[in-house]
Amino acid sequence: MSHKGDKKEYAVVVRNLSFRYSNQDANVLESVNLDIKRGEKVAIVGPNGAGKTTLLLNINGILRGYEGYIEIFGRRIDGRRSRKEIVRDVGMVFQDPDDQLFMPTVFDDVAFGPLNLGLSEDEVRTRVKEALRMLHIEDYEDKNPHRLSFGERKKIALATVLAMKPRILLLDEPTANLDPRSRSELISILKWLNESNDFTMIIATHDVNAIPDIADRVFVLNRRIIAEGTPREIFSDAELMEKTNLEVPDVMKLFELLRCFGFNCDELPLSIDDAVEALTKIIETSDGRHIHLHIHEHTHHGVERLRERWKYEHHL
Ligand SMILES: Nc1ncnc2c1ncn2[C@@H]1O[C@H](COP(=O)(O)OP(=O)(O)OP(=O)(O)O)[C@@H](O)[C@H]1O
Ligand SMILES: [Mg+2]
Repeated sequence: MSHKGDKKEYAVVVRNLSFRYSNQDANVLESVNLDIKRGEKVAIVGPNGAGKTTLLLNINGILRGYEGYIEIFGRRIDGRRSRKEIVRDVGMVFQDPDDQLFMPTVFDDVAFGPLNLGLSEDEVRTRVKEALRMLHIEDYEDKNPHRLSFGERKKIALATVLAMKPRILLLDEPTANLDPRSRSELISILKWLNESNDFTMIIATHDVNAIPDIADRVFVLNRRIIAEGTPREIFSDAELMEKTNLEVPDVMKLFELLRCFGFNCDELPLSIDDAVEALTKIIETSDGRHIHLHIHEHTHHGVERLRERWKYEHHL
């Protein structure tokens, strides 16, 4: 491919990856290509069964026997590269924390990976404390992970991976099943991690509302990569949204509705931050310093069209 000279710039390259589970007849991934730069945050979206988890498990080296190849920082992962080496660079937070936690205490769980890397006891202790502190769960050290709530376990699972100091973080549905407060805490942790570290993140998610906050680029997967672009490019493509049963963020929907009522803005806000910015700009530049909404000739028709597109209207 074209990136010969700057291979190190790419954290993950997936080339023509096809994968089939041995008990299945058909490929669940078909010629998947991804080029993810170092430090990039990427979201992978797609319907249930699209192959998102399978793709992450391939990148993490857990699943083998695919066609095509995968490179981590310019080096192919294959039989010659041991699993230990992959684990050092790539950390994965599984969708279900119970797949990740198996020790009697939180400390032991978080220490498990670093101990396996052969680090000294002191270094392991430091890493555990750091990871727990990052997630504001330092007082959980002696607790039994299996007596904690789902959201708490999710944070411990993230801590087990952070303690490994991976350069690439794979997150499988990180916000799923979290309560609203824990969800926003997790999103801010992900945003913060990204600002303060040279992390590359690949996040498989159905949480379209979180995507503008946590991803620079979005891949739409449905067995193959169907589309790729910035969150704005992807969410602005109404035909793609329809075809793949994806939804746009709620904030964007609200502003699309406001447009029907005469609200004028060049770009629809994707997130709360975008919305504040757009509203401030529009109000500051309007002479009367206020926003004027009204019902005009096309308002009703426009609203109906949107409701139909978002399937809030059922025509039986
Ligand atoms: N261990 C397995 N053995 C056989 N088939 C599997 C296995 N795991 C997943 N599959 C199949 O592979 C396909 C892709 O599954 P995968 O879990 O990767 O999808 P996904 O995009 O992560 O879905 P979701 O959004 O529900 O998490 C599905 O059709 C699934 O039934
Ligand atoms: Mg999945």
